[in-house]
Amino acid sequence: MCGIVGYIGENKARPVLISGIKRLEYRGYDSAGIAVIKDNGIICEKSVGQICELEKKINGKFDKSTMGIIHTRWATHGAPTVENAHPHFDCSGKIAIVHNGIIENYNYLKAKLEKEGHNFKSETDSEVIAHLIESHFEETLEDAVRRALKEVEGAYGLAIISLDDPGKLIAARHGSQLIVGIGKKEHFITSDVAAILEYTKNVVYLDDNEIAVLTRDNMKTTDVDNVQISKRIDEIQWNLDKIEKSGYKHFMLKEIHEQPQALRDSMLGRYEKDNNLVHLGGLKDKENVLRNIRRIIIVACGTSWHAGLIGEYMIEEHLGIPVEVEYASEFRYRNPVIEEDTMVVAISQSGETADTLAAIREASKKGAIILSICNVVGSSIAREADCGIFLHAGPEIGVASTKAFTSQIAVIFLLTLFLARIRGNREVLSNDMASKLKEIPKQVQKILDREDQIIKIAQLYKDNGNFLYLGRGYNYPVALEGALKLKEISYIHAEGYPAAEMKHGPIALIDKNMPVVFIATTDKVYSKILSNIEEVRTRGGKVIAIASESNNEISKLVDHVFYIPETIDALTPILSVIPLQLLAYQMAVMRRCDVDKPRNLAKSVTVE
Ligand code: G6P
Repeated sequence: MCGIVGYIGENKARPVLISGIKRLEYRGYDSAGIAVIKDNGIICEKSVGQICELEKKINGKFDKSTMGIIHTRWATHGAPTVENAHPHFDCSGKIAIVHNGIIENYNYLKAKLEKEGHNFKSETDSEVIAHLIESHFEETLEDAVRRALKEVEGAYGLAIISLDDPGKLIAARHGSQLIVGIGKKEHFITSDVAAILEYTKNVVYLDDNEIAVLTRDNMKTTDVDNVQISKRIDEIQWNLDKIEKSGYKHFMLKEIHEQPQALRDSMLGRYEKDNNLVHLGGLKDKENVLRNIRRIIIVACGTSWHAGLIGEYMIEEHLGIPVEVEYASEFRYRNPVIEEDTMVVAISQSGETADTLAAIREASKKGAIILSICNVVGSSIAREADCGIFLHAGPEIGVASTKAFTSQIAVIFLLTLFLARIRGNREVLSNDMASKLKEIPKQVQKILDREDQIIKIAQLYKDNGNFLYLGRGYNYPVALEGALKLKEISYIHAEGYPAAEMKHGPIALIDKNMPVVFIATTDKVYSKILSNIEEVRTRGGKVIAIASESNNEISKLVDHVFYIPETIDALTPILSVIPLQLLAYQMAVMRRCDVDKPRNLAKSVTVE
């Protein structure tokens, strides 16, 4: 999704802007553009495609500037063309803006501005902002920005420069994350801290309706009515190596292999010393409310929604609290029933997914308590929720989510144990559930050590056009996730189903050209899944099974088996999904796909 970097300081802007925006490539984009102020003019270049295309166009002229803005665009209004790429300008060419988000009343504003004589060069909603600022310009850029933003409806993260008030870089936020980085005699703007981590760890997270006026030496933050706001400076807790490939061919592979550590980190400091009672710092103040909730609604999108489904099985099985899992995009537009004791849990790796954010706002209006499960500290969802749990999985760069997914399951498991403790659920506390999670990182490592077996299977099936993934119980969401991973990065059509549903449609597709991946671990529904395997075999389908280590019968029934260690049913998905992540990754690499940046996809979907 779109990325923003802005710089003002005593160093050269171009290398800062280019290296910063490259760190945001993983978010997905289709065009890019840069504008810098130099001497008495603004110079700008834009290009379609990868940032390296933009770099080819930038010449020595850009080198001398010490302030500028850069953007990667993910098309929403208007095709990915050079004209539609940001920065956008006003009529005079003196005001340049880059924008993340969507201006909802842009049609109205554009018509109004055109009547006033403004000429538009692009089809984007974003361009209206530059013209609107121009129409309000009197003395200072910040006053013009404030007046303009009062007319704007929708979401924005903005970085703005102007020749009429040079020496200032302006950031404005409403509904689209924007962060100010503070360096020595320099300031940065970014939509994602990864872009500026190389230069500073000191950041200020802007809130909605805030505007920051940055000069080389100063930062002033106000709201749109010019009321001054004092902001806290936070320090980023992770290092650059977390956002570099460290010898791996792709971020996705690195992140798959980081899972044992990410899982350890998700547990760190959360178990009471010498026993298995769970404490979660982010929920501490809300224990009284959480003790009495009677219904849970989980809202999420994509892979996080799959983690939510696993959460539903887990919480209902172990706590007996009714749970529903909803696509955030559906939840926000219907009229969901929220009772007094309903808790809404938002699961989001990025903490910025527009639909999930809108869903919690809707639920909050209706009186629900909101609990967030996010990876990105300082993200909008984490900040707007009433309480929350961070994954501590470290930055996830690969568009296809891997370590965030397994950490989400671990954190939902910790939430289950936490709720069991505060609600006095003795059954959960007295069995050895809690200690099982502690064994998981080593078990994940054991699976990763056998990657070569997956490579062999991938070689056999890489040219297939279709795949079916089937699982039951806790492994049904894993089937969905396995299919999603494959289609996202290898572009092979894949579907995930609850295995018994196969008879209601997908069975018609089964023949020798349809490989079927069964997640058939030895759990409560194992005997049922064996019959589903039979049904596929008798129709000539090829079967790849993910099975438990102790299973010595399944190899006779299927074409390939990948064994995984045993654990309790609720934690099995963390183990059973690993071979599926590797299978998708290996096939995508063999098919020469751009694994970390799959076509048309974005890491963080900040528009509807
Ligand atoms: C995008 C990403 C997915 C992710 C989904 C939800 O589609 O490509 O990997 O699962 O958004 O993102 P979130 O950050 O809310 O978990």
